[in-house]
Amino acid sequence: MSTSLVLVAAGSGTRLGAGVRKGFVDVGGMTVIERAVRAFSGVAAIVERVLVVHPDDVAAVTDSELGARLRALGVDSVVAGGATRTASALAGVEATASTSVDVLVHDAARPFVSADRVRALIDALGTCEAALLAVPSTSTVKRADDAGRVAETLDRRRIHLATTPQGARRALLLRVLRDAVAAGRDGTDEASLLEAAGIAPVLVEDASTNLKITHPQDLLLASALLPREPDRVGFGWDIHRLVPGRPLVLCGVTVPSELGLLGHSDADVALHAICDALLGAAGLPDIGEHFPDTDPRWRGADSADLLRRVVDELRVRGLKPAQVDVSILAERPKLLPFKDAMRGRLRELLDLPADRVAVKARTGEGLDAVGRGEAIACRVVVTVTRSGTL
Ligand code: CTP
Ligand code: MG
Repeated sequence: MSTSLVLVAAGSGTRLGAGVRKGFVDVGGMTVIERAVRAFSGVAAIVERVLVVHPDDVAAVTDSELGARLRALGVDSVVAGGATRTASALAGVEATASTSVDVLVHDAARPFVSADRVRALIDALGTCEAALLAVPSTSTVKRADDAGRVAETLDRRRIHLATTPQGARRALLLRVLRDAVAAGRDGTDEASLLEAAGIAPVLVEDASTNLKITHPQDLLLASALLPREPDRVGFGWDIHRLVPGRPLVLCGVTVPSELGLLGHSDADVALHAICDALLGAAGLPDIGEHFPDTDPRWRGADSADLLRRVVDELRVRGLKPAQVDVSILAERPKLLPFKDAMRGRLRELLDLPADRVAVKARTGEGLDAVGRGEAIACRVVVTVTRSGTL
């Protein structure tokens, strides 16, 4: 069984009023058209994809980076739509391979359709000639009279809100669409045209997340439906030599000690490891490249300032720290009395709740440079998440 997909994206997008046609609006870093095409990529039964765009957009969509991305996503052809949705659907169905058995028509303005529901629709078409996705109404539906009063309350159990895709045997769909266009009729969906031709399409339950981007507020709903990017993980490590005559600063807290850490800045080994972990999680160059020790600007620098700069760098990329786990390796002094202050300082610098900041301290068991009391080292793991607010 071969199924073709027609994506209609030739409308003017007047109600959205985005200044560009709806399909070219960016939703979460991707155009609506691309997102809609991608929604079908896990549906193996679909063997052909035809995209219908406004006649003025055909060249722009074909000969562009967007066109290349769409081809990579499996779009086989881009054709010009018509003045009505029905005319656009017809142009798309006519462009499908004559060997295809079923054709699905989908609003490109519905980029969140679930592949599972599409599979259910295709399954249904195995036993009927026409079917559509529809969401059972959760609201009670009133039919109004001309005066704006309730004429009737409909039986909610029988109310389904039609979505897309909607599909039928190719020959049937082609005939019904041609007849409608020839008669100058426009249907807001394919099912209504099939119904007018005496066919009763089967309703296949859809999810209410199959939003049609229509009005500006739908873009707000769309952002809530975007798949969440997995959190990022970063690892940081640093070591500094212990010398007399220097302060010992760890996690931004000055710890009384005869020896302090040697370095260009205040040598806060923990904050340096945290900076590196955050930069790593964001895919950015390490702390040495950001704050080179050859640059006099960072001589004696407060590492808290360096960390603030790193957090700012993440923020402009829409990222923020989500959790930090710090392990300090020091033979002496005993850090237990300072751990709470360190956690407090990190919470403040990273803007994190208490259960997302851990500071652990351990000795080097008399082994290696840390164990011999010559150095303090620090290991850090962080997670970084999308901030959502740029
Ligand atoms: N559509 C189309 N050709 C048309 C009209 C509509 O291909 N002549 C497509 C739209 O691009 C959209 C789908 O049909 O993917 C549903 O239509 P709608 O939500 O009404 O989109 P627009 O017509 O673009 O928006 P508006 O009515 O606000 O102008
Ligand atoms: Mg419209």
